[in-house]
Amino acid sequence: MTDRFAVLWTRAGGKPVKMGNVVATERECRVTYDQAFVRSGLPGFSLIAPPAKLGTNAIIHRATERFPLHPRLMVMIPPNTAGNLQRRVYAELLAKRPVPPAPGFDSEWEILMLAGRNGIGHLDVFPSDLDAQTWYDTMERRAHLLGGRSGVWRLLQDEIQQTGDMDEATARELAEVMGPTPTVGGMTSKILVAIPDHLEWDGTMALPGTSEIGRTRFTDVIVKIEQPGYEGVTALEALAYDIHEELGFQVPRRWRHSVEGLNVLAVERFDRTSKGLPITYEGLLTIFAGGSTRVTSTSDLELHEVAAWIRRLASLCAIDVNEALMEIFRRLAVALMTGNGDLHLENLGLLGGFDGARMAPVFDPAPMRAWQRHNIQMAIPIDFNRDKPIYTQIARQGLAFGLTETAALGVLRWAHDATLNYRERVGAATGVPDGQKERLIRVVGRERELLQLAL
Ligand SMILES: Nc1ncnc2c1ncn2[C@@H]1O[C@H](COP(=O)(O)OP(=O)(O)O)[C@@H](O)[C@H]1O
Ligand SMILES: [Mg+2]
Repeated sequence: MTDRFAVLWTRAGGKPVKMGNVVATERECRVTYDQAFVRSGLPGFSLIAPPAKLGTNAIIHRATERFPLHPRLMVMIPPNTAGNLQRRVYAELLAKRPVPPAPGFDSEWEILMLAGRNGIGHLDVFPSDLDAQTWYDTMERRAHLLGGRSGVWRLLQDEIQQTGDMDEATARELAEVMGPTPTVGGMTSKILVAIPDHLEWDGTMALPGTSEIGRTRFTDVIVKIEQPGYEGVTALEALAYDIHEELGFQVPRRWRHSVEGLNVLAVERFDRTSKGLPITYEGLLTIFAGGSTRVTSTSDLELHEVAAWIRRLASLCAIDVNEALMEIFRRLAVALMTGNGDLHLENLGLLGGFDGARMAPVFDPAPMRAWQRHNIQMAIPIDFNRDKPIYTQIARQGLAFGLTETAALGVLRWAHDATLNYRERVGAATGVPDGQKERLIRVVGRERELLQLAL
């Protein structure tokens, strides 16, 4: 493989500045900050790589099967999983080139060069500084509505119904109306767009980063699209958001919408200021994976290890460790009581850089245990011992989070009592198949019984 070069830029300081350079070879990926960037005091490309400590020394990531590039760069590439909408649009765009890149790393790299900008967080990747400058210069001009309201939705709907390879014409049309939109990780099909900043949403969308069209203010959102096999997931996710909000957690604003038979949930981006500027954000996965090759997936660490890693972050950034740990434990308690077995390292993340990192608001709280194939109790495992009630053991994990066992049981009890009417609300939710409701109600009922054994 020939060496590959890219540049990193960011708008985190208000205007675009160059951060540094990336060199990727078959064996390693090196990221080096520019001297001027180190002096700027702006946050680096990952919490694990603080410019103040590294200076202009390269951070070297040894290429692995899972992370041929630094994990923080890898999450900017839409995963190559069946049905990933953005991946298919990009594949189609690349296939149209006179010399399409070879499958495998070549394609991953080219997708990163197309998609690695204006995504989640503050990091932008370009093939060259000239590309970066041109892109920023034309940003304002690109603020426009996405291809007629019903048009884009009809395309999306057609596309979501597909399971095999994307039909070429659709991909081309989608690429045309959406352009190479920035990418997001996760399993659900989703797009990053801006929507009018109103109480109700009529389905109007503009390119991400659009702050105003005519007199209408826009806000950046992530739109999650309900896929076949997951009917009702947007309704259940919306319910879970409501419950977290009522319990006093910080949650983003949400809008539900149904169009052309498609159910979607728009969630306001917490990694953008009201002026559309990026706020540093990083999921726990890439922070931890950047620090240890042992971490390659969202469930590689046990619960007490996650707590230990959070404590270690205090040497990299200003973070109120106890506050972060308490927040995670409380979220876990609510996840257990609402049937969300999916609270893993990519569903937790930190906002802010070395000068002040804090847990990002709650996101992706969908009670996935309503689906048999996602019915696991905890995505972050504990070393379970069959002889003791599971909730006694979960409460013991509280020790790693700075809680006594009694205090941890208190948190679990709080989540239990605060979700007393949850099953009723699931039962009353509209747009959720009976099968999912019944399963979720059963699963949650069982968790409550198990918790009772420990109380
Ligand atoms: N409100 C938000 N603001 C900014 N980033 C978000 C927001 N919600 C989700 N994300 C980012 O998008 C990723 C995918 O979203 P998520 O809701 O977790 O989808 P999935 O159900 O596919 O896992 C998250 O891991 C996170 O990085
Ligand atoms: Mg997720």
